[in-house]
Amino acid sequence: MKSINPLWLLATSLVRATFWMEDLSHQGIASFNPDRGYQVFRNVRDFGAKGDGVTDDTAAINAAMSHGNRCGGYGCIGATTNPAIVYFPPGTYLISTPIVGLFYTQMIGDPTDMPVIKGGSNFTQDGKALLDADPYLSNGKLNFISTNVFFQQVRNLVFDTTAIPHQTWAVHWPSAQATVIHNCVFRLSPNFEDGHTGIYMEEGSGGMLTDLVFYGGQYGAQFGSQQYTVRNLTFHGSQTAILQVWNWGFTYKSLSINDCEIGLNMSSPDVGSVTLLDSSFTNVDTAIIVGRHNSSATGLGSLLIQNVKYTNVPTVMKDLNGNQVLAGNASGALFECGYAKGNLYAPEGPSAFEGRDIAFDQPSALKLGDQYYERSKPQYEGYPADAFVSARNHYAVGDGVTDDTVALNSFFDVATEPTVVGFLDAGFYRVTDTVYIPAGARVVGEGLAAVIMGAGKKFSDVTNPRPVVQIGKPGELGYVEISDIIVSTQGPTAGAIAIEYNLNTPILDGNITVDTPPSGLWDVHVRIGGFGGSKLQVAECPITPNITNVVEPACIAGYMSMHITPSAGNLYMENNWMWVADHDIEDWNQTRIDVFAGRGLLIEGSNIWMLGNAVEHHTLYQYQLVNASNLWMGQIQTETPYYQPNPQAPYPFTQVNTTLHDPDFMIDCPGSSPSTVEQLPGDPPCAMAWAMRIIGSKNITVFGAGLYSFFNNYCTNCSTNHAGENCQARIFSIQDANGTEVVNSTTGLQMYNLNTIGSVSMLTNKGEDVAFWNETIATYASTMGIFRNDGNGTNVSSTS
Ligand SMILES: *[C@@H]1O[C@H](CO)[C@@H](O)[C@H](O)[C@H]1NC(C)=O
Ligand SMILES: *[C@@H]1O[C@H](CO)[C@@H](O)[C@H](O)[C@H]1NC(C)=O
Ligand SMILES: *[C@@H]1O[C@H](CO)[C@@H](O)[C@H](O)[C@H]1NC(C)=O
Ligand SMILES: *[C@@H]1O[C@H](CO)[C@@H](O)[C@H](O)[C@H]1NC(C)=O
Ligand SMILES: *[C@@H]1O[C@H](CO)[C@@H](O)[C@H](O)[C@H]1NC(C)=O
Ligand SMILES: *[C@@H]1O[C@H](CO)[C@@H](O)[C@H](O)[C@H]1NC(C)=O
Ligand SMILES: *[C@@H]1O[C@H](CO)[C@@H](O)[C@H](O)[C@H]1NC(C)=O
Ligand SMILES: *[C@@H]1O[C@H](CO)[C@@H](O)[C@H](O)[C@H]1NC(C)=O
Ligand SMILES: *[C@@H]1O[C@H](CO)[C@@H](O)[C@H](O)[C@H]1NC(C)=O
Ligand SMILES: *[C@@H]1O[C@H](CO)[C@@H](O)[C@H](O)[C@H]1NC(C)=O
Ligand SMILES: *[C@@H]1O[C@H](CO)[C@@H](O)[C@H](O)[C@H]1NC(C)=O
Ligand SMILES: *[C@@H]1O[C@H](CO)[C@@H](O)[C@H](O)[C@H]1NC(C)=O
Repeated sequence: MKSINPLWLLATSLVRATFWMEDLSHQGIASFNPDRGYQVFRNVRDFGAKGDGVTDDTAAINAAMSHGNRCGGYGCIGATTNPAIVYFPPGTYLISTPIVGLFYTQMIGDPTDMPVIKGGSNFTQDGKALLDADPYLSNGKLNFISTNVFFQQVRNLVFDTTAIPHQTWAVHWPSAQATVIHNCVFRLSPNFEDGHTGIYMEEGSGGMLTDLVFYGGQYGAQFGSQQYTVRNLTFHGSQTAILQVWNWGFTYKSLSINDCEIGLNMSSPDVGSVTLLDSSFTNVDTAIIVGRHNSSATGLGSLLIQNVKYTNVPTVMKDLNGNQVLAGNASGALFECGYAKGNLYAPEGPSAFEGRDIAFDQPSALKLGDQYYERSKPQYEGYPADAFVSARNHYAVGDGVTDDTVALNSFFDVATEPTVVGFLDAGFYRVTDTVYIPAGARVVGEGLAAVIMGAGKKFSDVTNPRPVVQIGKPGELGYVEISDIIVSTQGPTAGAIAIEYNLNTPILDGNITVDTPPSGLWDVHVRIGGFGGSKLQVAECPITPNITNVVEPACIAGYMSMHITPSAGNLYMENNWMWVADHDIEDWNQTRIDVFAGRGLLIEGSNIWMLGNAVEHHTLYQYQLVNASNLWMGQIQTETPYYQPNPQAPYPFTQVNTTLHDPDFMIDCPGSSPSTVEQLPGDPPCAMAWAMRIIGSKNITVFGAGLYSFFNNYCTNCSTNHAGENCQARIFSIQDANGTEVVNSTTGLQMYNLNTIGSVSMLTNKGEDVAFWNETIATYASTMGIFRNDGNGTNVSSTS
């Protein structure tokens, strides 16, 4: 057993002049870029930026962004072969036109002395934002399709618009999965009439925002996206801290809103649901403006609040006509332990509900003090560059061709040394057998451009699955920290389990403390197919909507994306995306492809936090929980494969693995015969991937879920405009049995703000469909505010 307690980590406090990332020798490459000399890491100073607060650095910064053949402008709307890390040393970088966003860019500042991007007083009226991550082209369209903007980060930067005398945004951020803005500050004009906004997001399918501070502004942030997870945002002196422009579901945790006129304005009729936890409003005139009427029959404007403090807040809630819905305390404190407004299923059938003082279950294993535990991605800012051991300096080649299995195994072993952080330089590390990350390892990838890629015959046997990356052996005790890494496969790899997580991290007396944290995986993603070098692109894996039940064996590229095994415990995950490609990112038309992977994320462990988590396009299921306990999940998001039911599930994964409690669609779908699941004309297909399946699990709390099924055989008629929502019969199952065998029963399940699209049944409880899409129609999605399988909670006092 290696070191299980990271206390030494806290004891190490080294004073440094420069951030290690600046000092490190940069050996990262883009393995599949035809230009062998392509530069991944760019320091803006090397491109002439002065950072002196006087010189106009716009051209220099944009030169650093666009150096090499990068993706953006007319034509390219996605690429993985030309990633960039654009690094900003401390300084004030004056700009007069926007920094133009390009695909697959990580903009990173020195966190020990955060650089300032400052808009000059002459900042162009035509420019939307200081950082325009997805600019509008002259044809009026966004450069990148907002729901396909992946693999972007902005970290450790201060955005300052205070000198700009006109309407402006600090960051324009239409964004999708595997994106994050982390540890940034927004200094906006304190004059509301200047019309400044910190983050402006009008479209997309995110994503994560964390550790942000906003000062001033007409709006701290304007958010419109399908779903997002937002954690640890602080606002000071904004007119409206957050304008929720539209959504299906947003989860907000740890907001601190201070000295604002309005906290959260979610009164738009395009708002589906908001889940708000562990937050505070202080000196705010009106904390929340809601759109939903108490007696509303629809699912719109669903709101769930847990553990929120209001101090000197005269009005907690107003409706859109300005009428007070809930009073506050103008000169004192008020605490909301639980409040809900939305459709309640208790436990069967919907009813409109509005109530205060609801005692929601809060499993103590998941809490630190009175809040759910949370922890930001470590950036190791106290460490010198020589604490980082580079994989390339440790014999790994990372060129996408060389077999790096032996080198990586040795590298991860070195990464367990207490004074060392393993640095996986940008590049594709092709491995032909399992690489093992032992307890004690700390590993950071270079700006999401470090990819471990399983390939070859050991991963190709569907009857003998094997992990590409194994974190801990079954039963192993210890602690790991891993961030900014992608795990992938190449070519036919039907037996590959991208990540197997076995580690159990001991904690003191079963309680999380800051000194005994859970292990952590931040921005660790699984990407199966659809990228340059994968051999799973348009040429190899075309879609076959006009031919029945055809599967190209070379395009079966995963057995499972991630397995958290029964021995695993105390794991914190933040911003993780497990994606089987539905399109080829490299293709300028984003042409769809057929790539097959059997299972998404199987969780059998305990004490697990999943903040900002999405699993998409796996054949059998996206999430499956078996005998799992104490889970915090939110916002979670899934999509059913676009090709289904051509072929229907489980094809091509026809062998039910009972050890893994695979769904058996012959049992799940009545009227089935041994060779095919019968589907009556007009009925929705049933043999479709489950978005979520919960079997015999305890204390499962889901704070916001978006379970989507948009397609049947690549056609969206089944989900368009509430024409019937019949892409699939069922999508989410809670069960005690696997069909025949009774296992432990599922207890203590709490589901808040469940949003589904395209499924007739929203929830199947013990084999019975208990909630339907047509009972709680909201936005494009149907929204179920509260479901608890143990009833509707104790001490519910309704105020309606
Ligand atoms: C904006 O102002 C800066 C600082 O005064 C100056 O260097 C720069 O040339 C100006 N840019 C434009 C486009 O006017
Ligand atoms: C919240 O963000 C601030 C920086 O904005 C950071 O100092 C603090 O540690 C974060 N807190 C948590 C619990 O992540
Ligand atoms: C709240 O937002 C809506 C737009 O969704 C807007 O029309 C309304 O004026 C806002 N309310 C206040 C008090 O700002
Ligand atoms: C579920 O949570 C409750 C309350 O925190 C706790 O007493 C119980 O032990 C938990 N169950 C499991 C299986 O961990
Ligand atoms: C079922 O899955 C387990 C765990 O991954 C594996 O050991 C076993 O070989 C699988 N069985 C079959 C028949 O694929
Ligand atoms: C652990 O948490 C429980 C429940 O919150 C508390 O009663 C107990 O005192 C804690 N133990 C320690 C060692 O802090
Ligand atoms: C399938 O057939 C339709 C109708 O003939 C055609 O428009 C479409 O392009 C075909 N798709 C493919 C991938 O061949
Ligand atoms: C994209 O589609 C257009 C129109 O269908 C076609 O002309 C073009 O060749 C395609 N480009 C690529 C890179 O496939
Ligand atoms: C359910 O469990 C029984 C008994 O272990 C087993 O025979 C059957 O194959 C299992 N079915 C599924 C779908 O896992
Ligand atoms: C039922 O729960 C117990 C205790 O958590 C566990 O040991 C056992 O494996 C579970 N049974 C099944 C069939 O999952
Ligand atoms: C909703 O849909 C279900 C399943 O199709 C149907 O049985 C039910 O009658 C519908 N309910 C309403 C209120 O339309
Ligand atoms: C909650 O459940 C209790 C007991 O089953 C029931 O009396 C009450 O009406 C329910 N409340 C709502 C709002 O459905």
